[in-house]
Amino acid sequence: MLKTMAAALGAILVFTSFALGQRKAPNMTAEPWWKYAVIYEVYPRSFADSNGDGIGDLRGITSKLEYLQDLGVDAIWITPCFPSPQVDFGYDVSDYENIDPMYGTLADFDRLLIEAKNHNIRVILDFVVNHTSDQHKWFVDSKSSKTAEHRDWYIWRDGKGDGGLPNNWTSLFGGSAWKFDPTTGQYYYHFFYPEQPDLNWRNPAVETAMFDVTRFWYKRGVAGFRLDAVDTLFEDPQLRDNTFLPGTDKFGRPNMDEKYNRRLPEVHTELQRLRKVADEYQAVLIGETATQDINQLEAYYGEHGNELQLPMDLELKDLPLSAPFLRDHIAAVDGAGGWPTYVISNHDIVRPYTRYGDGVHNDDIAKMMAAFYLTLRGTPIMYYGEEIGMENNDPKRVEDVKDPIGKIGWPNEKGRDGERTPMQWKAGPNAGFTSGVPWLPVPASSSTHNVEAEQKDATSILIFYRKLLQLRKTELALRDGEYVALNTSDPNILSYLRRSKDETVLVVLNISASKQRPHFDLTQQKFKSPRATALMQNRASANEGVFQTVTLEPYGVYIAEIK
Ligand code: NOJ
Ligand code: CA
Repeated sequence: MLKTMAAALGAILVFTSFALGQRKAPNMTAEPWWKYAVIYEVYPRSFADSNGDGIGDLRGITSKLEYLQDLGVDAIWITPCFPSPQVDFGYDVSDYENIDPMYGTLADFDRLLIEAKNHNIRVILDFVVNHTSDQHKWFVDSKSSKTAEHRDWYIWRDGKGDGGLPNNWTSLFGGSAWKFDPTTGQYYYHFFYPEQPDLNWRNPAVETAMFDVTRFWYKRGVAGFRLDAVDTLFEDPQLRDNTFLPGTDKFGRPNMDEKYNRRLPEVHTELQRLRKVADEYQAVLIGETATQDINQLEAYYGEHGNELQLPMDLELKDLPLSAPFLRDHIAAVDGAGGWPTYVISNHDIVRPYTRYGDGVHNDDIAKMMAAFYLTLRGTPIMYYGEEIGMENNDPKRVEDVKDPIGKIGWPNEKGRDGERTPMQWKAGPNAGFTSGVPWLPVPASSSTHNVEAEQKDATSILIFYRKLLQLRKTELALRDGEYVALNTSDPNILSYLRRSKDETVLVVLNISASKQRPHFDLTQQKFKSPRATALMQNRASANEGVFQTVTLEPYGVYIAEIK
């Protein structure tokens, strides 16, 4: 009863704060909305096409808001939909304050915002902070002459000696990070493609212009930003060479320590300044924080919680499907002092269905992974299509590749087309994504793994996701209960409690391909004779009476309230 009342009150407060305006102060519990949100990443090219040109668009997204509300997500993050030559599919922005005509208009965007609000869904945009497109008017001016107004908005240097590069830094996307421009006889720096010149954040005019971009969107009603590639914002002013490391990368180049062009301390000072602007609008900043260890992740919260509210944990995605690895990692992220932000997939990573699938238990593994990242303490960010078990569909021939890194790196690196295929709405032509020719082919799995079919199947991945997302809303312990690891030396089972003042939820996940029967002694957790009431399960059940054990088939899931 208490729980029901608290949940209802919570819902009213959260709803009220939302109804009052997207950027209003959070509810009376003083907790900001994003703490209890599930954020859904929409890759606009691939979500829903409203006009039959084979490319998804804003009106397409608007038409699916009801679906997203029913699914139970609280916010959508739309990857860049601004005018762009699309060399990096939007991550090369040529105008930060408009919408690319292929996606619609600013009016379409405003409509999307209104409709999203009507569906209790907030909208987060992607802010490409490190670089612009080489077609952006700032860069066009910058390259025009050494004395141009915007010359110092980018990083220009003379080559060394006779025809040498300014230094040995390499681009993440292949080749050198320097491109020679004959107009002025200097090189410009690009951490990503040559069509993505890096902005010079040491120039105050760049900062002012970029901060104003965020204000432009906050004023329109955007709830926050996902910040692209934050760790590459600054470079060593002396341009010192990086040190080579053993081994080679996927392009066959020697590895580098990136000491002088990545994760410089100035990044943190700048994020603090960007956060101040966000705070004027009660906006949330999510970081694409490509960290190598937990200390780096911790640093992105800021010493005084004054940097990113939600730095993504992008290390999780590289771990093997193994209880001990996941357990250790979660303990570290959970203990890092901030609010965790879990990500298991996005538009740059092979889809988990393909990554973890063993060909036998794929759907169960997908459910088990959902139960994992959606029951941890923190804000999960889910990628479109995860909820229906979409798989990767990598190009088979180099001539079919759309993502430039797949062309440069073929066959070792096939690019990211495989994880960006059209959303699978129904069986049949183009999975209901478009009436035209989709920009990427639809995977064969769309005949079975699609929204329409899964909505009708109580055992589908989609229904499992919906129930989980619902559970996050009704079980207070899943929202802000502490994370308590159990049976920490079990090699196959990952189990934990989420424990709040009045409520305890137990999560048991079989991360193995064999049947398991873990035993639990919850006396240490102050349960003398615990009773378990199952909230959700997949291929699992607990013993009757005083709770002691759960039987789980391969990749089974058991979630219960413990009293
Ligand atoms: C990270 C984005 O997620 C990726 O898609 C893009 O290519 C790079 N940043 C460069 O903007
Ligand atoms: Ca379209």
